[in-house]
Amino acid sequence: MEHDKTMNHHFTYRLGTINDLQQLKDLGLLAYGLIQDRLTPENWQTMETGLKNEERVAQLISISVSYVCLDGDKIVGMAYLMPHGNPTEIYPADWAYIRMVGVHPDYRGRGICKQLMQMVLNQARLSEEKTLGLHTSEVMEDAMHIYEDMGFRKVKDLGPKFGVQYYLYQLDL
Ligand SMILES: CC(C)(COP(=O)(O)OP(=O)(O)OC[C@H]1O[C@@H](n2cnc3c(N)ncnc32)[C@H](O)[C@@H]1OP(=O)(O)O)[C@@H](O)C(=O)NCCC(=O)NCCS
Repeated sequence: MEHDKTMNHHFTYRLGTINDLQQLKDLGLLAYGLIQDRLTPENWQTMETGLKNEERVAQLISISVSYVCLDGDKIVGMAYLMPHGNPTEIYPADWAYIRMVGVHPDYRGRGICKQLMQMVLNQARLSEEKTLGLHTSEVMEDAMHIYEDMGFRKVKDLGPKFGVQYYLYQLDL
């Protein structure tokens, strides 16, 4: 039983706060570090600079509803739900969307991402969001697989960013 990957009873989940800023920033670097080898050094550097930008992370925490997964007091997973009314180049104003899904590399494949996504989905339904979006890239195969399993549809080709192909996904709630 101890080695059953689907058992994750020793993890706890809660909302993230600004007090988690440092840990969330560090987790972003660690989690997205998984794809470093798939990018050119220049593109990784650009991505890394964004991930290290504390103001950007702080803004994400303050505008979104963030969910974190903890092993003891260590944050090992995160996902952010951005409510509608925060349009970007990618998302129209009436869409809610998911940002910065990441799990610590040592904790992969234990259902943490799926649990966080479920929490995000529940919250989006509770707050009566109509459409949930997210964007991801060709180098994030595990993430794509999880999103497609949850019912997200690939709806748009967003072109290259960081030298890799990005796609827009949509889920009607
Ligand atoms: C993608 C990511 C969030 C997945 O988190 P996770 O907690 O490992 O995912 P879960 O355990 O909930 O989901 C399991 C899925 O991951 C993959 N997986 C399973 N075991 C795995 C393992 N040992 N190692 C790697 N991936 C594994 C499978 O696709 C699995 O799906 P399945 O259960 O249907 O077979 C995480 O790997 C990550 O942070 N990656 C880098 C950043 C990233 O790509 N973020 C998404 C940006 S849009």
